[in-house]
Amino acid sequence: MNGVQHSGQKIGDIAAQLLDHYDRHARKLPWRKLPGQGLPDPYHVWISEIMLQQTTVAAVIPFFEKFTEKWPDFAALAACDDADIMAAWAGLGYYARARNLIRCARNIMSDFGGVMPEEEAQLRTLPGVGPYTAAAIAAIAFGKNAVVVDANIERVVSRLKSISTPLPQAKPVIYNATSEITPKLRSGDFAQAMMDLGAGICSVKTPSCPSCPLNAHCSASIAGNPQDYPVKSPKKAKPVRTGTIYWITKGELVWLVRRQDKGMLAGMRALPDDGWTARCDGSQSPPFAADWTVCQTPVSHIFTHFSLNVVVTVTAWRGKDDPPLVGEWWDANSLDKAGLPTLFSKAAKVAIASGET
Ligand code: ADE
Repeated sequence: MNGVQHSGQKIGDIAAQLLDHYDRHARKLPWRKLPGQGLPDPYHVWISEIMLQQTTVAAVIPFFEKFTEKWPDFAALAACDDADIMAAWAGLGYYARARNLIRCARNIMSDFGGVMPEEEAQLRTLPGVGPYTAAAIAAIAFGKNAVVVDANIERVVSRLKSISTPLPQAKPVIYNATSEITPKLRSGDFAQAMMDLGAGICSVKTPSCPSCPLNAHCSASIAGNPQDYPVKSPKKAKPVRTGTIYWITKGELVWLVRRQDKGMLAGMRALPDDGWTARCDGSQSPPFAADWTVCQTPVSHIFTHFSLNVVVTVTAWRGKDDPPLVGEWWDANSLDKAGLPTLFSKAAKVAIASGET
């Protein structure tokens, strides 16, 4: 151990100390193998890493469990009905991830004999697998020496080294600093230990430095200002769009449409709307003339590139034929089975609570 003296304390190697802590405190997560229990199933690692992009561990766990029970391997996923996957993804958001997941499983079946490739460079060729995910899969599932940097690790490393360059410009600096401390062996456990540290002890607002196994190495903790890192460039305000969502009922049934194959929430079941997008407000023109009632409770939703405020507008369908919009009647009491994106589930709750139809 190449110990150095600091503040009167003998400091060991960062990786060794962190791995020692991980061996005792690793979180039990359904896609993980605990230290010493061998490598986890690459299929599980891949699914979890895709789900964990922009989504918290707590939110992912129930989705991961249901998903892997229904589609336990690449072959099952590749043979799926796309609409079933999209419905199972409802509520997780960022639906391009689900579309890429299907393409990726089919790609692995057709081009890799149903076996996930092990090298980062090959992994990066797969749909939905960028540099972070490729490194995470290579390290965690295959024990490769790879440098893994997610948002939690960015925070830990920027504090360890008091990196004052703001994000996102600091990314290469943080990557190099992470590379310097990543061990050649157990890179996957090291990455997960760093993630656990970031999710717990090294939290955004209230880091618990006295409990941290890396406290004596941490430049920001020593300076007493860990919460000042990572430094971030000011965020651009998101544009705010407005729109309308239509709730059309016939007794206990509600009319659902399917969104077009391109663009936001592509291919998802949805309630009809007035054409709002990230770039423009909705037209406020209902899809047909009827006695429309506006619900008093507004619905807000934050997408990656904009915030949306919608008004929910309801009507009871009185026509003999179906409404003049391609769609289907759905039992309003089992909307949880429709796989609606969260925005539309929120709108449905408002419409039902209004008691207007
Ligand atoms: N976030 C992304 N990947 C993760 C993992 N393997 N464990 C915990 N949190 C994560």
